[in-house]
Amino acid sequence: MLTIAGLSHSFRTGQEETHVLHELNFRVEQGEMVALLGSSGSGKSTLLNLMAGLMKPTHGSILIAGQAIEKMNENRLAEFRRTHIGFIFQSYELIPHLTVRENVELPLVFQSTPSQERKQRAMALLQQVGIGDKSEMFPSQLSGGQQQRVSIARSLITKPAIVFADEPTGNLDTKTEKEIIDLLIDLNQNSGITFVIVTHELEVAGRTQRILQLRDGYLVEQHKQEGEAG
Ligand SMILES: Nc1ncnc2c1ncn2[C@@H]1O[C@H](COP(=O)(O)OP(=O)(O)O)[C@@H](O)[C@H]1O
Ligand SMILES: [Mg+2]
Repeated sequence: MLTIAGLSHSFRTGQEETHVLHELNFRVEQGEMVALLGSSGSGKSTLLNLMAGLMKPTHGSILIAGQAIEKMNENRLAEFRRTHIGFIFQSYELIPHLTVRENVELPLVFQSTPSQERKQRAMALLQQVGIGDKSEMFPSQLSGGQQQRVSIARSLITKPAIVFADEPTGNLDTKTEKEIIDLLIDLNQNSGITFVIVTHELEVAGRTQRILQLRDGYLVEQHKQEGEAG
């Protein structure tokens, strides 16, 4: 599903070059749920942005569903992102003047899906993430946990190959954090969604099937959890 090979990244600011990621190699299989764990500054967001095609790597390759995304031109990449990649943000990134249902439908608007089908698919997902009764409300009328459920439904509406989540519980209290991770585990185990979840919290990472740990831009640990996830 995802293959990272010889991936390195540097940022250049003026004369100075900062090497942020060093020769990373790993795979994520279809149906896996993997945590990308690391402290602040270890390179998590940089890696996630590269994997989501939001920027190009200095070296190496990123294969998603068999396609090398670093080789795509901007139009092709934008199209690929819209159809193959789901994204869940720490701060939800919902559009305030659209209803919950309209927010979830939005990625399909760009694919010219007929409105009746958009509505049906959005409603089905909202039911699945447990907020079917909130569809006609606006994001500001929802709690943080509910807003993150909207954002999860939106990430799934295009039936992406893989979903990346950047600190998805970073703005939530401990109880809500557990509920959101429970939901992601349920979507992984019962709907086969492939997730890569970035976190700096061991409690979150410990609930996934596998942890990839980043330390100063190096992948230092890659251990399979014993027993069941969750
Ligand atoms: N656009 C940028 N320009 C220069 N340096 C950057 C840029 N983005 C991130 N960095 C540097 O890369 C390192 C890793 O950052 P980041 O990927 O955001 O880490 P994390 O998400 O794990 O906190 C940090 O030292 C950061 O300062
Ligand atoms: Mg970050």
